[in-house]
Amino acid sequence: MKDTILFALPGNETITGQLASHLKAEVGEIITRKFPDGETYVQFVSVVSRKKVVLVCTLDQPDKKIIALYFLAKTASDLGAESVCLIAPYLPYMRQDKSFNQGEGVTSRHFGELVSSIADTFVTVDPHLHRIKSLSEVINGKYAVVHSAEQIAQWITKNLQRPMIIGPDEESVQWVSKVAKKANAPFIALNKTRLSDEEVEISVPDHNEYKDRTLVLMDDIISTGETMLEVISKLKSMSHNKPVCIGIHAVFSGDAYNKMIQSGVADIVTCNTIPHKSNKIDISRVLSEGYRELYR
Ligand code: R5P
Repeated sequence: MKDTILFALPGNETITGQLASHLKAEVGEIITRKFPDGETYVQFVSVVSRKKVVLVCTLDQPDKKIIALYFLAKTASDLGAESVCLIAPYLPYMRQDKSFNQGEGVTSRHFGELVSSIADTFVTVDPHLHRIKSLSEVINGKYAVVHSAEQIAQWITKNLQRPMIIGPDEESVQWVSKVAKKANAPFIALNKTRLSDEEVEISVPDHNEYKDRTLVLMDDIISTGETMLEVISKLKSMSHNKPVCIGIHAVFSGDAYNKMIQSGVADIVTCNTIPHKSNKIDISRVLSEGYRELYR
């Protein structure tokens, strides 16, 4: 795609390079830094006039990243870019999709509006859709959602014997069932009650297959890790098989990753929507297909 130019926001260089090679597009240069007073400075070093500009920035830790993105998108338009696309492999804030307590903000909707106001088009991977059924409820304008199920299923098929996929809650059925079908494996979804930001209760029924299957706990987001840890601890009394944990988005707040490692898992595997040492599943090709879909 000759007229497309990609820019990596800091920390997004690897996936940007992979996307550029799938899209046969160039990678441009930007400068972003802080002024001494903490305000954000942005500059395009490469020419963007009459080009399709793609800003690549995954949005974990979103509050730290959003202002630079906004300034870059507006600057690209000022400099005559034909269009501006934001590729954000991880879309945050989607779990706050209702007012759980009196006076709380439904920030999934507000963040969606913010993202929509930044760029002309938007591409993301498996957003957390629970009470919101379609991304069109929060994003205005053209967007593409791509899915990691095929890549995850391929990884499972290649690396695990007799897998059984376990989703921690009701909403996980949407991705766990697809992965299970593609990997030709059985699956179950558990019942989760969230008690606080860092506390969940999950009931894990006994199952005669736990003992001779490779247990694969799969969730879309691993954040505090408490969801995975709760299932891991309950499974310990039912099976000697150490589970493999798969997350699409490696948010890993605090020392969630180390806690999970210490809990005695066989492996922790994530997609490269957020750079992390657990990334073993590459979704850059499907992401590039999402972009192509918007600009064909
Ligand atoms: C929420 O319902 C998501 O699907 C995940 O289950 C949740 O984000 C996991 O969060 P944590 O790792 O903090 O338990």
